[in-house]
Amino acid sequence: MKTIIEPFKIKVVEPIHMTTPEQREGVLQEAGFNLFLVKARDVLIDLLTDSGTGAMSSEQWAGIMRADESYAGAESFYRFERQMQEITGFTHVLPTHQGRASERILFELIGGAGKVVPNNAHFDTTRANVEHSGAEPVDLPIDEAKDPKNRHPFKGNINLQTLEDLIGRVGADRVPAVMVTVTNNSGGGQPVSLENLRGVRAICDRHGIPFFLDACRFAENAWFIKMREEGQGDRSVRDIVREMFDLADGATISAKKDGIVNIGGVLLLRDDALFQNATNLLILTEGYVTYGGLAGRDLEAMARGFEEVLREDYLDYRIRSTAYLGNQLTEAGIAIVEPPGGHAIYVDAKAFCPHIPPAEFPGQAVVAGLYRIGGVRAVEIGSVMFGGGGHAPPAMELVRLAMPRRVYTQSHIDYVAEAMSELHARRDTLRGLRIVDEPPALRHFTARFEEL
Ligand code: F0G
Repeated sequence: MKTIIEPFKIKVVEPIHMTTPEQREGVLQEAGFNLFLVKARDVLIDLLTDSGTGAMSSEQWAGIMRADESYAGAESFYRFERQMQEITGFTHVLPTHQGRASERILFELIGGAGKVVPNNAHFDTTRANVEHSGAEPVDLPIDEAKDPKNRHPFKGNINLQTLEDLIGRVGADRVPAVMVTVTNNSGGGQPVSLENLRGVRAICDRHGIPFFLDACRFAENAWFIKMREEGQGDRSVRDIVREMFDLADGATISAKKDGIVNIGGVLLLRDDALFQNATNLLILTEGYVTYGGLAGRDLEAMARGFEEVLREDYLDYRIRSTAYLGNQLTEAGIAIVEPPGGHAIYVDAKAFCPHIPPAEFPGQAVVAGLYRIGGVRAVEIGSVMFGGGGHAPPAMELVRLAMPRRVYTQSHIDYVAEAMSELHARRDTLRGLRIVDEPPALRHFTARFEEL
């Protein structure tokens, strides 16, 4: 069958608000052209992020009612811990309030001045947490990842040769961990192959360096492995997921993605001493070990979400519906990062508005234009997000249309494609922007712009 069927039906609905073009113009001006500063009620279709925006199932909501809210030793914690141990094979499971809390604890313990942390592509908070510890984050994507048109099946792979070279150059003692982000969010939501993860493991073994996964979207990554990697098609997603985690020494996870919850995170560790130190930090800043800054109900929702995300009918629908948007854009002549990613479509803003140089933020111009034309909210992943603080401009200027899990239907997506095509037809009218106010770090969240 051609039709992508949502493997669920809708029990609760939430209204979304139409706005007029005049209202949207006012909203844009007031927000300084930064869509993070726009109120959600002024957005019609919100593709800002797939993080914490998913719709929970009736089972998750039922779990919320059944949750144990005890301070210490809550039954909900043990259910969550068992579920994570079963899925990932890790012995030590720490709950945190979200992914960046896991990152902050990890890098406070293993980072520090003089250290270098390689990754296929750090996401913004990971990069910021590595830097905050005093260490230097280094992105080592494969060459194919820098070309939006290249249809390499595993564009998320880390470049094993440059990884080896980097370790040789700085010395293994300065590399506290190699990290691989699955799927690589800042490079197009592209997957990492098992073969590549095995390659990283071998390099880490040779140099005695721990290997960590940033595993926010581990289930989507495993589905791509099943679909695309030689010899993996007959394995279950669970089995592939288990092998991915078996290759690593630890993982940070934002449960707001493949955990399909609105808040939550996980830190997974094998090493007993590191676990002890992480536990101490967790108690200091997040909360006691059996809740880590969350309520018992959040732990229940996570335990169920991590199970539901591994269902293959769900993953088939999920990955195909993201590709559905990508294919519509490509058919309209819009250049995207190919092949379509798992959780998002990334529009190539350099190709969309070649008349706007990177220094005038072509991605932000597309983001503002898309909101203006259709009330759709997207996010820039380019010179605004990664260009501040003296950093060199990134290789690509992208606009991410992130797909919340189980939230929007096909007609919502058709509308987004229509708005994008309409904007593309009028792309000559898009104008570059100039930053008028920015914070010292993570400027994309709060910077204000003016149209040139
Ligand atoms: N790692 C990756 C790859 C991410 O995409 C994110 C969050 C994090 C870590 C941090 O997790 O938000 O729970 O603290 N990405 C969101 C996004 C915000 O929009 O892509 P968090």
